[in-house]
Amino acid sequence: LREIDRAVAKYPADQKQSAVMAALAIAQHEKGWLSTQTMDEVAEYLGMPPVAVYEVASFYTMYNLAPTGRHKLCLCTNLPCALSGATEAAEHLQNRLGIGFNETTADGRITLTEGECFGACGDAPVVLVNDRRMVRFMTPEAIDKMLAELRSEEHTSELQSRLHLV
Ligand code: FES
Repeated sequence: LREIDRAVAKYPADQKQSAVMAALAIAQHEKGWLSTQTMDEVAEYLGMPPVAVYEVASFYTMYNLAPTGRHKLCLCTNLPCALSGATEAAEHLQNRLGIGFNETTADGRITLTEGECFGACGDAPVVLVNDRRMVRFMTPEAIDKMLAELRSEEHTSELQSRLHLV
């Protein structure tokens, strides 16, 4: 709530609802996804009708309306990206992960989704990782490298949490 208050403070006092996108991102970062209950709490906190919050959350692909895997990969499949390798990137990702779009790997590690234009068509194909980091020029080799990096980050964070326990 303190983080949401900081976002709200950027707008005039009678425009709290302008912070709705930030508030949803903050809530999702904490909870992992946006349940109806979470969206209702955001609506109440910002003094908005719940439906207005649902409209925002369901419009943008970075908001997760269902639980996802540990990592979420969102590949832009719009036309400019499709003409520059996104179709091949989609096939490669699906083959490597053994899942289709809107599915999660059996081990719960990765959810694969399709996104709309990220405004980075010149860098196509592009993937948004965990709703925050955009990776560009996703050739099959670059995809393999990204997947290896995600695995390596997981090992590092598991190691760090074990060391904290010692
Ligand atoms: Fe993919 Fe624009 S079409 S970023």
